[in-house]
Amino acid sequence: MQKFSWILVTVLGLSTGIMAYKFILSGNAEKSADGRVAIQLTPEERDLVLHEMRTFLDSVQQITQGVANNDFNAAAKAARIVGRAAQQGMPGTLIGKLPLEFKKMGFDTHSQFTQLALDAEQLGDGTQTLEQLGTLLQNCVACHAIYKFEIEKSNQ
Ligand code: HEC
Repeated sequence: MQKFSWILVTVLGLSTGIMAYKFILSGNAEKSADGRVAIQLTPEERDLVLHEMRTFLDSVQQITQGVANNDFNAAAKAARIVGRAAQQGMPGTLIGKLPLEFKKMGFDTHSQFTQLALDAEQLGDGTQTLEQLGTLLQNCVACHAIYKFEIEKSNQ
């Protein structure tokens, strides 16, 4: 009987561990009809991330304009707005719902904007800035191809 309890405890412990691990990997997400992975968020969380997305686009526009005008300070300033520091202030509950791969791509995108800002200021080389922008835009394209947001069922 005691042996049986230990087996039960081990099996339960293992399955809890596997479920926790799966949640960290895949976040709060499910497959959707269009083939993308639908991350399930509350309306407020979705608004927050979409606001961040529009800020991304705004920065991309300003960086492009900055390079066209040879104004590398303006380009750097726009890039910093969405640089590494911009990630602070994301609620932990929201971060927990994002799949690991999503977080990695998001973090990498912010980091690349920070690097672009530093180089734009120091080098003032338009070709270099546009190359960096082209590279980081691949993250935008890749992430949009894989993920979308949906409102959690409990919030509908
Ligand atoms: C880590 C993933 C990820 C990265 C990186 C990413 N996005 Fe997004 N973005 C999303 C998702 C998911 C949506 C919602 C798409 C949907 O629900 O159909 C979105 C939506 C958007 C929207 C629509 C906003 C709205 O109000 O509806 C814009 C604009 C956008 N992204 C711009 C960008 C730009 C520009 C970049 C790169 C500089 C970028 N995103 C990088 C995941 C990402």
